[in-house]
Amino acid sequence: FEKGQEAGPKISLPADIFAPDRPNSTGFDLSNPEVLAHLQAQRARRQTWSYGDLGQAHPVHSPATGDQIGQIRFLSADQARQLAAAATPWQITPAKRAAVLRKAADLYESHAEAFFALLTHEAGKTLSDCIGELREAVDFLRYYAHQAEALASNSDGIFTCISPWNFPLAIFTGQIAAALAMGNGVLAKPAEATSLIAVQATALLHQAGVPKTCLQLLPGEGAVVGPVLCSTPNVSGVCFTGSTATAQAINRVMAENLPPQAPLIAETGGLNAMIVDSTALLEQAVQDVVVSAFQSAGQRCSALRMLYVQSDIADAFERMLCGAMQALVVGPPEAADCDVGPVIDAAAQARSSAHIARQKLLFQTSAPENGYFVAPTILSVSGISDLHEEIFGPVLHLARYDAGNLDRVIEDINASGYGLTFGFHSRIDDRVQKVVSRVNAGNLYINRNQIGAVVGSQPFGGHGLSGTGPKAGGPRYLPRFAAQSLMTADG
Ligand code: NAD
Ligand code: ALA
Repeated sequence: FEKGQEAGPKISLPADIFAPDRPNSTGFDLSNPEVLAHLQAQRARRQTWSYGDLGQAHPVHSPATGDQIGQIRFLSADQARQLAAAATPWQITPAKRAAVLRKAADLYESHAEAFFALLTHEAGKTLSDCIGELREAVDFLRYYAHQAEALASNSDGIFTCISPWNFPLAIFTGQIAAALAMGNGVLAKPAEATSLIAVQATALLHQAGVPKTCLQLLPGEGAVVGPVLCSTPNVSGVCFTGSTATAQAINRVMAENLPPQAPLIAETGGLNAMIVDSTALLEQAVQDVVVSAFQSAGQRCSALRMLYVQSDIADAFERMLCGAMQALVVGPPEAADCDVGPVIDAAAQARSSAHIARQKLLFQTSAPENGYFVAPTILSVSGISDLHEEIFGPVLHLARYDAGNLDRVIEDINASGYGLTFGFHSRIDDRVQKVVSRVNAGNLYINRNQIGAVVGSQPFGGHGLSGTGPKAGGPRYLPRFAAQSLMTADG
């Protein structure tokens, strides 16, 4: 289920935008030994990267080993200001822009092995996460290319796009592709920890035909270059994905420096819950909990953090869940059988470890000593109000609830103020309908896992503290990058 949040102006959309004729990216078959050997050989060949001739050199470390794998130069505030001032909108026809974005999608696919090498080295992604990440990036490029043609609209602004490290290719590309598709110039600020992946992606976008003045990469510390890029007078809007606290800081800077109509499109954090009732198919629910909580080492905004299990089945469910967790392979992300790789850096590892130490431990597996690993963990809590912040790692919180308290559980979930993803396992249709209608979340998943929204099929975004909307990968996203020109007379 998808609950829309239609922030922004009232707009008329062409019917074609709702049914784009666009195949999804195909991916790779990791069960084929030749495919796997090829991907791993490519990774082994390239071990160090270096980028930039402006700014201060900053070492880049592999989360899996802690070893330095390269360096990147971070811009000063003044250097960022100068580059931002030189940005220009992309003033060609929507059809020509779409052709360039499609060419970029093809180039991304033909450079898959090079992306995978960096995604495992710099971001610590497992091979299956690498494939998902590349596919999502390619899907964004083709989806927004199609929409640019359907909307046939030209914007002439400059958008600042600020992205997080946890989807260093997909979200980095999705934001840029949306802004470019509408004819804007882009100032792209990647996350500190994953700037090298952004360098590679930007090079391919330029190679596809995006002019360098229309897409400028500005690597740097968020607190240094971020405020500059959100206040420069030529910026007409900001697209941000990251923590709720950073979105609030950006909102303040924009309010003080940019005109009130400059949009902030923010996708932020979540305290995502799942409820498993006594009618659930337990084997399915266990598998979906494991995927939702521990895939990507729990470093997805969509990841399951708070699991409510109906008391009547809780003993059996917990036994099965702990058994399934013992089968998880935690270790080097490039290994074909790795389920859970490292967290992004030492600070993230320390935050998860400190949180685990403060709570009541229900179950924990093991993890390698070297590198920034956190063992998949379940903590026992009384409910979501015990989670004071988003813990971004493979840490699940579990509470039991009595059948008569389901309404109370939903109230507690809504009271968190977040509203990104929600999962429900139940085989009673009426109950599913009732719960779905009452939970405040952007994306609701029934009897399945709650991560991995697919571009075009499952537009993704949240409510409240989880974001402003409109949803990425959905039909209402692009118009927000040209809000003025698409407003209807009564809007
Ligand atoms: P973050 O907020 O620390 O950083 C995100 C980006 O903002 C980085 O590029 C950073 O350099 C930049 N930044 C930092 N301070 C800034 C400032 N003062 N002004 C402007 N930019 C600044 O988040 P993160 O740790 O990189 O990412 C993890 C967070 O992202 C989690 O909260 C996660 O839930 C969220 N996230 C949300 C979605 C979504 O779609 N809702 C998707 C992925 C990640
Ligand atoms: N779009 C990503 C997911 O659904 C964050 O997991």
